[in-house]
Amino acid sequence: MSDTRDLQRFTIPGIVRVEAGEGGLPRFVVSGRDGAAHVYLHGAHVTHFQPTGGEPVLFLSGKSLYAEGKAIRGGVPVIFPWFGAKEGDSAAPAHGFARVLDWEPTDVRQESDGRVILTLELGSSDRTRKAWPFDFRLRYTIAVGRSLELALEVQNLSGGEFRFEEALHTYLAVSDVRQVDVEGLGGKTYIDKMDSGRRKVQPPGAIRIEGETDRVYLNTTDGVVVTDPGFKRDVIVTKQGSAATVLWNPWIAKAKSMSDFGDDEWPHMLCVETANVSDNAVTLAPGATHRMSATIAVEIS
Ligand code: BG6
Repeated sequence: MSDTRDLQRFTIPGIVRVEAGEGGLPRFVVSGRDGAAHVYLHGAHVTHFQPTGGEPVLFLSGKSLYAEGKAIRGGVPVIFPWFGAKEGDSAAPAHGFARVLDWEPTDVRQESDGRVILTLELGSSDRTRKAWPFDFRLRYTIAVGRSLELALEVQNLSGGEFRFEEALHTYLAVSDVRQVDVEGLGGKTYIDKMDSGRRKVQPPGAIRIEGETDRVYLNTTDGVVVTDPGFKRDVIVTKQGSAATVLWNPWIAKAKSMSDFGDDEWPHMLCVETANVSDNAVTLAPGATHRMSATIAVEIS
């Protein structure tokens, strides 16, 4: 793991500093003109984003673990190269390895428009090849401004094509998940993981979360708006290079069963994940690069 001393060259006085975060894991603390953020090298994990003058946009569990080999619970886990359980290998860790490995920062800068942009990379290694036998390079850029802009590039450095799944597993902070409207997925087909993976069609109109929800909306390229009357704001997730959207809330029993999630935290989060999973997994030719991006913006209502 990188020592915070080795990372000092990435600091920008008054704007970006490096510190030992929770569990001693190194993190960037960004205090930009238009927004603030925390980014751990562990998983390239954004755990906090707050526009200047606004409230935090991301949920982070008070019970999260911060340890090597463990995923952080909340923020934006980066999921690659498989989503959920690995097909044909039930012993493999859920959601792949990208969220539990240490990424390498390659660039930190401030743009003239005030946005602070961090770039982190993760390459294949003996460890990743044991789990997934391909060579690749991931490049993740995190732009912190009035909105949070995330872009994940996957480059195939193998001799042949490979197929992968990916997600920016965004945990949005909501006042009460039972009170929000989720718009943008009406009429779309989804895989209902709460009903043996049955495929269903979402009726038109806004979605209300009324129980444990775990759905993959296929062929969804449009944005999603979460209207939150309690927080008097809309959170708008727009995306490019992503054809699937995952909606997840564990509700009461599942929350209780998760040791890294507080029993009473479930009303305060909703995952709206920008993804390419299941039917929408990506096949990438050797030498090619695929880019998926998401922008998370807030409008006060
Ligand atoms: C969601 C999945 O994206 O992530 C759910 O659709 C899963 O099935 C959830 O329970 C959390 O996964 P994990 O591995 O972080 O507990």
